[in-house]
Amino acid sequence: MLMHISCTGMAIPPRLLRPVALVYILERSTTHQEGLPKIPVPPLKQTCERYLAALEPLITREELAHTRTLIAEFLQSGGVGERLQKGLERRARKTENWLSDWWMQSAYLDSRMPIPVYTSPGVVLPQMHFQDRQGQMRFAAKLIAGVLDFKKMVDNETLPVEYLGGKPLCMNQYYQVLSSCRIPGPKKDIVVNYATGKSPSTHITVVHNFQFFVLDVYSSNGMPLTVDQIYVQLEKIWNSSLQTNKEPIGILTSNHRNTWGKAYNNLIKDKTNKDSVRTIQKSIFLVCLDAPMPRVSDDLYYSKVAAQMLHGGGSRWNSGNRCNLLGEDGSCGLTYEHAPAEGPPIVFLVDHVVEYMKKTEFRRAPMVPLPLPQKLRFNITPEVKKDIEKAKQNMNIMVPDLDVQVFNFYHYGKKYLKSIKTSPDAFIQMALQLAYYRMYQTCCPTYESASLRMFKLGRTEAIRSTSTESHRFVQAMDDVSKQDTEKLALLQEAIKAHRAYTHMAIHGQTVDRHLLGLRMQAIEDLTSLPEIFMDTSYAVAMHFNLFTSQVGSKTDCVMCIGPMVPDGYGICYNPMGDHINFAVTAFNSCEETNAARLSRFLKEALLDLKSLVEQTLKPSPTGPEEQPDRT
Ligand code: COA
Repeated sequence: MLMHISCTGMAIPPRLLRPVALVYILERSTTHQEGLPKIPVPPLKQTCERYLAALEPLITREELAHTRTLIAEFLQSGGVGERLQKGLERRARKTENWLSDWWMQSAYLDSRMPIPVYTSPGVVLPQMHFQDRQGQMRFAAKLIAGVLDFKKMVDNETLPVEYLGGKPLCMNQYYQVLSSCRIPGPKKDIVVNYATGKSPSTHITVVHNFQFFVLDVYSSNGMPLTVDQIYVQLEKIWNSSLQTNKEPIGILTSNHRNTWGKAYNNLIKDKTNKDSVRTIQKSIFLVCLDAPMPRVSDDLYYSKVAAQMLHGGGSRWNSGNRCNLLGEDGSCGLTYEHAPAEGPPIVFLVDHVVEYMKKTEFRRAPMVPLPLPQKLRFNITPEVKKDIEKAKQNMNIMVPDLDVQVFNFYHYGKKYLKSIKTSPDAFIQMALQLAYYRMYQTCCPTYESASLRMFKLGRTEAIRSTSTESHRFVQAMDDVSKQDTEKLALLQEAIKAHRAYTHMAIHGQTVDRHLLGLRMQAIEDLTSLPEIFMDTSYAVAMHFNLFTSQVGSKTDCVMCIGPMVPDGYGICYNPMGDHINFAVTAFNSCEETNAARLSRFLKEALLDLKSLVEQTLKPSPTGPEEQPDRT
C-alpha cells in the first residue's frame, strides 16, 4: 500500500459517523474463518435464466433470440454445459474456494494494462492544512504510527470481525493489505506477502524527490517507533533528499506489465539494484512525500488530488515517487494494489488511522539516537535509463488522458434516504441509471461490486444494475405523458429489483462469477470455447460502460477507480449521513465520454428523484420504521 502526503495537508474529517452497513464485532478474527461456508456453484439453469434476463435491456430482440438458442444448446442434457458444471462442482469440492484463484488470475495478474489508472484504486482524503513542512512531517509521522497500530491488530489477530446481515465475513483480505507486493512477470504477475515467514518485514519505504529510503519502524526490543521518533527519522530523510534531479526510478512500475516485466529483469541484473528492489518489495508499506502540485481552483482541488492518487501527475511531478502518498500542499490519500484486497479493508484501515491520529498527541521527549535511514542505491545503466524514458513517455500519455471529477453532493445523504424507507445504495444506482440514460438516450451494462465475503476467501461478485425494471423507469422519468405516481411506482420497482439482485449477488447466486468459472473450466477441459462465450451478446454484456462501486467509510473520503472500458466511466461513491461523495473517471481520448458532464447529470438525477419522491411521499421525521432484510 502506498500512502501519499502532499505537503499541504490531510484534514482530519470534521464529521465522523458510525460505520456503514458492515457491523464490527471484537473477536479473534481468524478463529471464525474455519466456520465460514464455501462459496456455492449456482445451478446452471438458474444462471442461464438470470443471464438472459440481464441481457434483455441491453440487446435487440433478434440478438436475444439468438442467444436463447445458444443457451438452450448449452443446457442440453449431457451437453457441454453439464460437463463444465460437473467440473466446477468437482473443483468446489476439492478447494476452499473454487473461484478465488481464477479471479485473482483473470481480473488482476493476467492483466497487462498499467497498474495506475487501470487497476490500482486511489483514496482521496480531506485536505490538511499544514502550517509548514514540520506540520507535514508531524502529520506523516502520526499517519505511519496509525498504520502500525492497525498492524498490531493484524499481527495479534484481534481485528474486529465484520458482519453483514448478521453473518460473519471472511477477514482474509485484511491480512494481505500490508507487506504485500505485486511482482511483474513478462506474461503474468505474482503477489508475494512478507507479513509472516522467517523474517517478517519490519521496515517501510519512504520516497521523497524520487529517492527511496528504508525506515525501520520497530526498535531492537520489537516495539514500534513512537510518533516523535518517526518524525525525527522523516526529517533526516527529507534533509538527505533535497536534490530534485534524480532519475524517477519508481516510474518504471507504471508501465504496461509486459514492458515493466522486461524492464524489471533488466533492472535487477545489477546486484545493488536487485537488493534495493527486494528491500522495497519487503516493505510493510510505502509513504511518498510528494511535491506540491500546481494550484487549482477550490472546486477542482479534489479532482486533482484524485488524479494524483491514481497516477501522480506525470513524470515531471510525482509519478516517479510511486510505488503510496502525502503531498507537500496538504493533499493526502493513498493508492493500493488491488490484487490482494478490495476497498472495504482499506477504508477500515483509513478509519482506524484517522481515529488514531485524532487521539494521539505529538510529544517531544528525550530520545535514544536512531541510525540514519538507509538510502537505497540504484545503478542507472543505459538500458535502465532507456526503460525509464519509455515509462515516462507512457505516463505522460496516460496522465492527460484521465478525466476525473470528484464532488460532494450536499443536498442529502444516507440519513434522508433511510428516512424515506429506501435503500440508499439502490437509490444512488438508479440515479446513475437515469443520469446515463439522459446523457446517451440508452442504457448500458452496469457493474456494481458486491461482497462475497460471507464465504471463505470470498472477494466480489457483480451486481448488474441495469435491469428491465430500471430501463422502464428511466424511459418513463422524462416522459411527459406519464404521471408522477406512475414514475414513482416504476422507480420503486427498479429499486426492488436492484435489492433483489444485490441479495442474490452477496449470496453467490448471480451470473458473472459463475460464467467466469464455466469459461475457465472450458479453457482447462476443452479444445474450444462454447458458443455462448463467442456470442456478440456476451461481449456486450461484459462491456461495462458503467463500472461502479460503493465504498462506505466513517471518514469523509472517497475512493476512485479508472473506467473498465475505453468508452466507459469508473464511479465510486461514499454515502455519508448528510451528503454523498462521488468520484467519476473517464478517458479524454474517448469523444463520447465526459466525467464532468456525467457528474452534472448525476447531480440533477439525484435532485429530480428526491423531488419525485417528495411530491408523492411524506418523509418520516423519525427515520425508518422497519429495517429491510439485508441477509
Ligand atoms: N429503509 C430503511 N433503511 C434501509 C432500507 C430501507 N428500505 N434499505 C436499506 N436500508 C439501510 C440499511 O439497513 C443500511 O443501514 P446501516 O447503515 O444502519 O447499516 C443502510 O441503509 C445501507 O443499506 P444499502 O444502501 O441498501 O446498502 P448496503 O449497505 O446493503 O450495501 C452493497 C450494498 C452492495 C454496497 C454491499 O452489500 C456490498 O457488497 N459492499 C461491498 C462492496 C465492495 O466490495 N466494494 C469495493 C470494491 S473495490
